[in-house]
Amino acid sequence: MNALNKKTVEDIEVNGKKVLVRCDFNVPLKDGEITNDKRIVAALPTIKYLIGHGAKVILCSHLGRPKGEYKPEFSLAPVAKRLSEYLEKEVKLAEDAEVVGENAKAMAAALNDGDVMLLENVRYRKEETKNEENFSKELASLADIFVNDAFGTAHRAHCSTTGVAAYLPAVCGYLIQKEIEFMGGALANPKRPLVAILGGAKVSDKIGVITNLLDKCDTLIIGGGMAYTFMKSLGYTIGTSLLEEEQVENAAKMMNDAKAKGVKFLIPVDNKLGREYDENTESMIVDSDNIPDGWMGLDIGPRTQKLFTDAIKGAGTVIWNGPMGVSEWDNFAGGTIAVANAVAESGAISIVGGGDSVAAVTKLGFSDKMSHISTGGGASLEFLEGKELPGIAALNDKD
Ligand code: 3PG
Repeated sequence: MNALNKKTVEDIEVNGKKVLVRCDFNVPLKDGEITNDKRIVAALPTIKYLIGHGAKVILCSHLGRPKGEYKPEFSLAPVAKRLSEYLEKEVKLAEDAEVVGENAKAMAAALNDGDVMLLENVRYRKEETKNEENFSKELASLADIFVNDAFGTAHRAHCSTTGVAAYLPAVCGYLIQKEIEFMGGALANPKRPLVAILGGAKVSDKIGVITNLLDKCDTLIIGGGMAYTFMKSLGYTIGTSLLEEEQVENAAKMMNDAKAKGVKFLIPVDNKLGREYDENTESMIVDSDNIPDGWMGLDIGPRTQKLFTDAIKGAGTVIWNGPMGVSEWDNFAGGTIAVANAVAESGAISIVGGGDSVAAVTKLGFSDKMSHISTGGGASLEFLEGKELPGIAALNDKD
């Protein structure tokens, strides 16, 4: 799949047309305040293009999981406010519990060229996540053109991401284009060597990605909690570290497959262990084949940092998904910091995806040093698994 085969906003006349734009404004909120607006910023190029080309812009998104019911704490009101600030023009929110209600219809009808409005949370409607026809048709009835720019939600086949595309000319926006260009390029035609770094807690979450990447990358690095299931498959004792017993066999198979395919497969050779799962727990550094009972791996150790960073240094392309340890705790963030540093300094095309690794890279101040930070969590994982994303597949092909 490649969005470049899909029509984009530049392939369609938008002047004077009502354009429904699906964005991913699923931003974190605390006490009603947006704590990270990266996804809003990432949506601006498409919105600005449409404003600049005289479209009447109707934005829509989900926020959280209100489960088909109106719940004020899931309102997109804070997003409308932030958008108004960035666009330096008022973005009115159509405050309809049913999303496409009297307010939305009246506001859409009254839009002038270059105006922007926002619908309420599409997940206030129970039909949304079931991709039911009636709500897709209601959304489509507001507009002449559909633009999907919600990369973070492109793995969901919902009314506002795929259903509506059946009823309107449907094209992609700049964010989807950029995400697929970077990630698709890294998978299809990478500058070699291609080094993939996978971390996070669970092997089961990453099996699809590992399997797909084993056919594409030159080196695969495994860190984070999932590494202990790989160590177990080598016959090591892993104390109280995270273990997915049912994945041990799979882990051994993946390592054998890597060998057969000539892919360098690196797992930690030493670890920073903790007594318990606590930020301030007692800690020690121990080799992977020597983990004592009653201790758990919470980060990679210094020899592993060297092993991994040496492999990253020579990379042409790096794909990184998942932290190396409990990176939100200073005591166990060392491995993730070392890897982030190495990626930043490698000069490689660097792509970071997945909520936790993106949060770590951002918190550690490395965001500007990466070539591309994906706005997708689940969506970027599914893309790396080689799956077709329904929100992109539903769009019109280029002629
Ligand atoms: C995300 O945050 O990954 C996307 O916005 C999708 O949200 P969802 O997992 O609730 O569908």
